[in-house]
Amino acid sequence: MKKIYSGKAKDVFEKNENEVVIYFKDDATAGNGAKHAIIEGKGILNNKITDLIFKHLMSKGIETHFISKLSDREQLVKKVTIIPLEVILRNYSAGSFSKRYGVKEGKKFKEPTFEISYKEDALNDPLLNKDHAIAMEIVDEKEYEEIKSKSKEINKILTSLFERAGIILVDFKLEFGKDKEGKIVLADEFSPDNCRLWDSKTLKKLDKDNFRNDLGNLISSYEIVLERLTNVK
Ligand code: TMP
Repeated sequence: MKKIYSGKAKDVFEKNENEVVIYFKDDATAGNGAKHAIIEGKGILNNKITDLIFKHLMSKGIETHFISKLSDREQLVKKVTIIPLEVILRNYSAGSFSKRYGVKEGKKFKEPTFEISYKEDALNDPLLNKDHAIAMEIVDEKEYEEIKSKSKEINKILTSLFERAGIILVDFKLEFGKDKEGKIVLADEFSPDNCRLWDSKTLKKLDKDNFRNDLGNLISSYEIVLERLTNVK
């Protein structure tokens, strides 16, 4: 299969004109690639967690690119054109929000915040507002509103799922794509690489912040997330 994209933690191969295979690697990066390590087994865990989350979202009516998990490290997905936006939802302050606005980590917001960045490594994924995204013709107004409402719906579904797993969903990043018919569907992955998860009782971090901030063992945290999600009733 021809490799059509090589990302920081995933590669994408062309299966046929309608489908691609995503391969989950063990690479971990932070600070737009400034920090890099190979963490053995991370790709397998992220593939399993993404499989579980995407299936859950689809069972609740969310349309995604996901077709099936092929192996420990591979997923078959619908070929889509990725919309170059990093869509970030926040339920609590943390990370760049805390840094940018001087708000201590852990403040629970009355309403989740929705923000978008321009997905462009060379520019360090700069923050955009709605007018910027429309001016740049990344989305039109209707598509922007559709992405926003879908993201909020996903947040509701996943906040509830993680709550039942004894985990607080602090924030997360989504990517959307357009399929052949121009329909906007959820794409990319959902794993502890692109969200913040805190243990509901101890507030221990169970996500990639362990790597970003040298806090502890990444794999054991990701294993806890997978095990808890697997056992949600
Ligand atoms: P931030 O606080 O650094 O802006 O990150 C918010 C959330 O988005 C956090 O869960 C990590 C995730 N994220 C990514 O997955 N990729 C990125 O490039 C960035 C900046 C954040």
